[in-house]
Amino acid sequence: MSDMLMELTEKHLETGLRGIPVGYCTTSKVDPQKGLYYIGTPIAELAYKDPEDVIYLLLNQALPSAAQSTAFKQELTERRTLSPQVIDSLRSLPKSGHPTKWFVHGLNVMGMLAATGDYQQDAATVIAAMPTLVAAIFRIREGWGEPIEPDPSLGYMENFVHMLGIPEQSAAQREHLIELMRLFDVVHFDHGGGNLSTFTGKAVASALSDLFESLAAAMCALAGPRHGKANQEVLHFVEEFVRAVGGSADDDTIAAMIKARLANGRLIFGFGHAVLRVEDPRCTVLCDLGERLCPDDTNFRMVQALRRLVPTILSKNPKITNPYPNVDLATGALLHACGLRKHEYYTVLFGMSRAVGISIQIIYERIRARAGKGTPLIRPKYLYSAQGSAG
Ligand code: MLT
Repeated sequence: MSDMLMELTEKHLETGLRGIPVGYCTTSKVDPQKGLYYIGTPIAELAYKDPEDVIYLLLNQALPSAAQSTAFKQELTERRTLSPQVIDSLRSLPKSGHPTKWFVHGLNVMGMLAATGDYQQDAATVIAAMPTLVAAIFRIREGWGEPIEPDPSLGYMENFVHMLGIPEQSAAQREHLIELMRLFDVVHFDHGGGNLSTFTGKAVASALSDLFESLAAAMCALAGPRHGKANQEVLHFVEEFVRAVGGSADDDTIAAMIKARLANGRLIFGFGHAVLRVEDPRCTVLCDLGERLCPDDTNFRMVQALRRLVPTILSKNPKITNPYPNVDLATGALLHACGLRKHEYYTVLFGMSRAVGISIQIIYERIRARAGKGTPLIRPKYLYSAQGSAG
């Protein structure tokens, strides 16, 4: 609680509100030394649970009993279908537009047709139908053919991979992608209250904008390379290393290239975090899964080499407070190895998952906070200065 007693001074201005408490988060917390917890449980302990059960946990603050789990999965299955009008609206979008922009559009159109203004009801709709929307975005934007109908016999992520229908994906890659997407989904659901997309979604909802409007805004925040788009950028970076030093380069060669890159003032992607000061436990579980699913994949081997070498090199720079791998380091390489080879879609997958946590945090702020009054309209203060911080 001590950081709640901090006094705000001029040095806190223009620092991205880092470390400044602004509210309560009832779903998750991020401990700088231990990483992410959902309702008090470390993420590593939840990583291999059914994604539906983890959503239930975030919604109800307890894991479901067997009967509750079955009923909740059934409810999600019943709400999977998307209105044909949403699908048709996707067909008119420019293919040059980034898939995250398509996702924002899709959420907006879903809202025009389905928003009730009841945040709980709308969260149930959005959580159940988002995978159908995202799969339709892939298929229409990539020209893979008509969207594939949801299969009610399949689980949340199993059905998502079924609806993607990735052409020329081997049966083994498909099974691997299901395993990966189950884990990917769970670890990206939530990350405390202050990450930019979550904060943006809650800020927009504070105007009593509906859940779809709030999520569309949140996804615009996620679209930037400093936030969700980082996972796409990391794979480009890893591939650049593979091209430059070959797939089987030794550690000395890779370390020399990292140092040369830093000396040229170029960024190292996949390391560092605004809150964490250790390797992100989400990265650890993803890399463990990678060792099982695709141990010989060239990009994944490079990820593991970077994970081994970069922290020591970055920690020599006193200005770098967190030289450790973050969640984005491995995701692109793993998705690619499991047959999902389109880098520009990785952020949408992050968004499809994060929208779950954002929706649940919005429900708290709108319905439960302050004994049911809800949090007020977000309206921080800016100090007038014609020159800004230079003045
Ligand atoms: C994350 O998942 O690491 C984020 O959304 C970034 C953050 O927590 O600020």
